[in-house]
Amino acid sequence: MGDQFAQSELGMVPALRWEEPPEGPVLVLLDQTRLPQEEVELVCTDVQALVAAIRALAVRGAPVLGLAGAYGIALAAARGYDVLEAADLLAHARPTAVNLAYGVRRAVAAYEQASPDQAAAAALAEARALHAQDAAASTAMAEYGGRLLAELVPGGGYRILTHCNTGALVSGGEGTALGVVMAAHRVGELRRLWVDETRPLLQGARLTAYEAARAGMPYTLLVDSAAGSLFTAGEVDAVLIGADRIAADGSTANKVGSYPLAVLARYHHVPFVVVAPTTTVDLGTPDGASIEVEQRAGSEVTDLAPSPLGTQAYNPAFDVTPPELITAIVTENGVVSPVTAESLAAVCGQTTGQPLA
Ligand code: MRU
Repeated sequence: MGDQFAQSELGMVPALRWEEPPEGPVLVLLDQTRLPQEEVELVCTDVQALVAAIRALAVRGAPVLGLAGAYGIALAAARGYDVLEAADLLAHARPTAVNLAYGVRRAVAAYEQASPDQAAAAALAEARALHAQDAAASTAMAEYGGRLLAELVPGGGYRILTHCNTGALVSGGEGTALGVVMAAHRVGELRRLWVDETRPLLQGARLTAYEAARAGMPYTLLVDSAAGSLFTAGEVDAVLIGADRIAADGSTANKVGSYPLAVLARYHHVPFVVVAPTTTVDLGTPDGASIEVEQRAGSEVTDLAPSPLGTQAYNPAFDVTPPELITAIVTENGVVSPVTAESLAAVCGQTTGQPLA
């Protein structure tokens, strides 16, 4: 325990990429379960391997799950696998992040609309289009988020608290919440990034710290339960998080531990901002209670926290923050504030993701 890893030895490779070696097309993933110790790539030659990688969180985070879903359909099509069977497997690999089913659905639609001899190429083109769209959304969110921060925290020099991981590892671009932080850092306005370790799988400690260190950000890691004392000390100017699914009323599912931060932020009069592309908004889910929250194995908790044999653990992967606790939702189409069903629908236009039937 207590090992730290020299950042200079690592040079981050993309979260996922499509390759076409002579043996046939593959989807190559950066195995996020191995970070920050080592950058190991996972080569998926079939949909089953990709589904296993999604379930194991080798590839994770809402926007990139959408890309994995779309490329997964392209892989199935190129390898002659039953595309509708692949769609069912992929779309249900994890239940909460709506982008996964959205990416699958887009690639399947492209596949079905093309002539049979063009169908595999059409699915791949759609996956690439979604990839480019996600990168552009990252850039736009960083822009809108930067302007919002300047309004919310006059004087600059932001001290931002974040939870889980929302950078390039989850995106076709620089990410969602961490993309905004990255932009602030680039212009010299980031005083401190507070990084929640994010139990039990430690996406904050392992992944956000890894990305922050690589970018040369001033960052400090804390155990999740230390957040309250940071607020009491007046050390947080804003909380920035991502989202896995935003319901039509603005209720936001994100990594477990996000909701307590929203309550703390409200009590301490600190802005609580969600940064997510409109592909994470699901107008087909009316409210927070309707969001399916993934329950993961209790062993993820007991493996981390030595406990008596047979101890049962409660391990929801996400929690839901109600809209009244959210200061603003930053999307690539603009900022929603105050967060209402009407303002959210307006900013989404026609790009809202819907789950597969
Ligand atoms: O279980 P994960 O690691 O896939 O969960 C991801 C998150 O909850 C992230 O916090 C994130 O905000 C959503 S992706 C930008």
